[in-house]
Amino acid sequence: MKLVVLCSGNGSNFENILRSCWKHEVVGMIYNVKDCYARTRAAKFGVPTCYIHHKDEDTLIDCINMVKPDLIVLAGYMRILSEKVINSVTRIINIHPSLLPKYKGLHAIEQALESGDDATGVTVHYVTPELDSGDIIIQNRVPILQDDTVESLTKRIQRMEHSIMPVAIDKALCDS
Ligand code: GRF
Repeated sequence: MKLVVLCSGNGSNFENILRSCWKHEVVGMIYNVKDCYARTRAAKFGVPTCYIHHKDEDTLIDCINMVKPDLIVLAGYMRILSEKVINSVTRIINIHPSLLPKYKGLHAIEQALESGDDATGVTVHYVTPELDSGDIIIQNRVPILQDDTVESLTKRIQRMEHSIMPVAIDKALCDS
C-alpha cells in the first residue's frame, strides 16, 4: 500500500514508519517547515519530499492526489487541515501524545504532567475538520512517574508512539 506522510519537525515517527512499515511504500513526505529534520531523514532513505506552505491548500491537494496514496499519515504535522483538504484526499490519520479526548492541541504532554494524573498516553485517530476529534484507531496508556519531567515523559510517550503507529497504519488500511 502507498503512504504519504506529512511532517513539520523532528520526524522520529516518520523514520519509524520507514523502518517498521516495510510492507508499505512511503511514496512521499510533505513538510511545511523548511529546515525540519524530517527532511534529512527522508534524504537518508531516498524518500521524495515536497515543501508546501500550509496555506497553499490547492498545491497540497494536487501533490497528494498525484501519487494516489492509500493512506495519509500526519506524523508531527503541526497544522490543522481544512475541511476542503480533508474532503479532497483519501483518509488521513494523526498521532497525538495524550489519551484523547483529554489534552487536545499543543502542549498535551505538559498539560498531562501538570494535571497530577497518574497516566497519559498516545492516540492514533482519523482526521476530521475538528481538532484531534476523529474516531480513535488505537489508544495506549503511558504511566506518569513521580519524578517525571517533560523530557522524560516525552521519551516514554515517543517509545509508545513508535510501537503503536505501525499497528494503527495497518488497521486503518484494513478498515478502508
Ligand atoms: C509526536 O509527539 C506526535 O505525537 C505529535 O508531534 C510529535 C512529533 O514527533 N503530533 P516527531 O517529529 O515524530 O519526532
